[in-house]
Amino acid sequence: MIRIHEVSFDYQIFSEDDNAGRKPALSNVSLDIDSGEFIALLGRNGSGKSSLTRLLNGIETPSAGEVIVDGLSTEDPAAIPSIRRLVQIVFQNPENQQVGLTAFEDIAFGLSNIGWPHEEMSDRIAWAIRLVGLKAPEDRPVSGLSGGEKQKLALAAVLALAPSYLILDEATSMLDPAARRQFVETLHEVRSKHPFTLIYITHHMDEVMDADRWVIFREGEIAASGTPDELATDPERLSDCGLELPYSRLLGERLRLQGVKVSSAPDIQELRRLLCKSN
Ligand SMILES: Nc1ncnc2c1ncn2[C@@H]1O[C@H](COP(=O)(O)OP(=O)(O)OP(=O)(O)O)[C@@H](O)[C@H]1O
Ligand SMILES: [Mg+2]
Repeated sequence: MIRIHEVSFDYQIFSEDDNAGRKPALSNVSLDIDSGEFIALLGRNGSGKSSLTRLLNGIETPSAGEVIVDGLSTEDPAAIPSIRRLVQIVFQNPENQQVGLTAFEDIAFGLSNIGWPHEEMSDRIAWAIRLVGLKAPEDRPVSGLSGGEKQKLALAAVLALAPSYLILDEATSMLDPAARRQFVETLHEVRSKHPFTLIYITHHMDEVMDADRWVIFREGEIAASGTPDELATDPERLSDCGLELPYSRLLGERLRLQGVKVSSAPDIQELRRLLCKSN
């Protein structure tokens, strides 16, 4: 379990002009993330989502409050190697996270860093590549992979390390719609076979309609938290936080507000039938 307790976080800005000083990014955030949960962190640009993720694996430490990962405090330097192993992050741009020239080297780098037994490394790399369905030979240069393949490689590289908590920080935002769908499908397939806690940041609401919980940030604070079914019933509040439901869900909620009986996640057939009836 990850415990975020009354956390505030300021960036220190070093500058000779008037912008120098502390810039608040998070203010008094408390949140418990249970093991095995699929939790979506949502909110407008600059609302604090990425800042929070940097606190979860100890890249940064809170200005106030504490972050505890499986009983380990991110303030404790001795705990940082364990925390960094437990909590892995896949970022937006696959190119910023690839360190090897080939897929093999790329996955091997992370494994060597955590002291994976050398004689078991090849098997582990092959396992991770298979797991994400990356159809590329291990020795193919990373530079020749498509954007979708590069992001799958980034996923394979972190999954090889067997994290307990996986953070995806807008990991699909640079992919085209087809690659995005495929990446999300792969992610959930993998998770059904090898469960881990998924902390998912996105501006694409369709990717998180089946999350266990949404946590919505506004200006560095938690504005709302609850299941998608609880929060989707208030599209105005979502829109206030810069979020827009997928069109079919939005239509369903609008029909519900007009007193039409509609299921919680209506498909196109149901919506068509209800719309025809209500005319
Ligand atoms: N390295 C940094 N130095 C100074 N301020 C920063 C830095 N990174 C983020 N901020 C500021 O902290 C606040 C929170 O930003 P953060 O990147 O956490 O938001 P976000 O919700 O991840 O946004 P986005 O959806 O655009 O990724 C913003 O005001 C942002 O300008
Ligand atoms: Mg961000």
